[in-house]
Amino acid sequence: MQQHEVSLAARVLRQRLGVDPTIGIITGSGFRFCPLQARSMGRVSYSDLPGMDVSSVAGHASHAEMLDLHGRHVLVCSGRLHAYEGHEHTSCMQLIDLLHAAGIRTVIITNAAGGLHWRYVPGDIALITDTIDLTFLGSTRHGYTGSPDPCLLVDQDLQTSILETCAQQHIALEMGTYCQVLGPSYETRAEIRMLRRLGADLVGMSTVREQRHARSLGMTTLAFSMVTNTLSDTVQRSVTHDEVLDVASSAGHQLSTIITTLLTQEIV
Ligand code: HPA
Repeated sequence: MQQHEVSLAARVLRQRLGVDPTIGIITGSGFRFCPLQARSMGRVSYSDLPGMDVSSVAGHASHAEMLDLHGRHVLVCSGRLHAYEGHEHTSCMQLIDLLHAAGIRTVIITNAAGGLHWRYVPGDIALITDTIDLTFLGSTRHGYTGSPDPCLLVDQDLQTSILETCAQQHIALEMGTYCQVLGPSYETRAEIRMLRRLGADLVGMSTVREQRHARSLGMTTLAFSMVTNTLSDTVQRSVTHDEVLDVASSAGHQLSTIITTLLTQEIV
């Protein structure tokens, strides 16, 4: 999307929804963020926003919904674009650009991921504490701006607060390093072995590029993985997209609880 299209899309979004959002959430495959405490203030399809592309992947809706959660205006974007669908990298960043143009400075990114660490079981939620970019897509910026990419800045104080809050509330939350690959095929046993050796605990097809792009725009980001399947480098077993969607929708409750707790306690 060109800058003028992003600005126009953000203007239409604000006009349609009537209030300015302060927090953005991008939801991954199969996950719906709809806590009982929240009141919907309206919904806009991406196709109604000028210049926005729409995902063709099953399990990805394509709309933005404004929620009022105890007085906080949260814009939940369901459905993102993936490079494997054939979209340009700049299009894959359209949600971050939109949220930024709408005035949002904090974004929570979620994804469905394969669990590489032995500790994980399907349904676990993990806070992403570090990332590996194996997309080989080049610079995270659209052009060199003369200053280094701030992608390495991890807000450790925020991560500590999140982990402490969940521990105090007895909410199970794992943590781990997430690796983004291009997909769309799932990993071979040799790739699983390689990813583990590289230090990855989770693998998926999104998030890292979005998170880095958001950081380069000066936004605060945090990201969560929902472990939809575990990966073995010894037993050959194929992962299916339907399995990923099934687990994501049943484990979504836990992720909703975590995000709601962080928002209502104003940790983010
Ligand atoms: N690999 C890559 N992406 C994924 C997986 C996986 O096993 N599960 C959900 N998204």
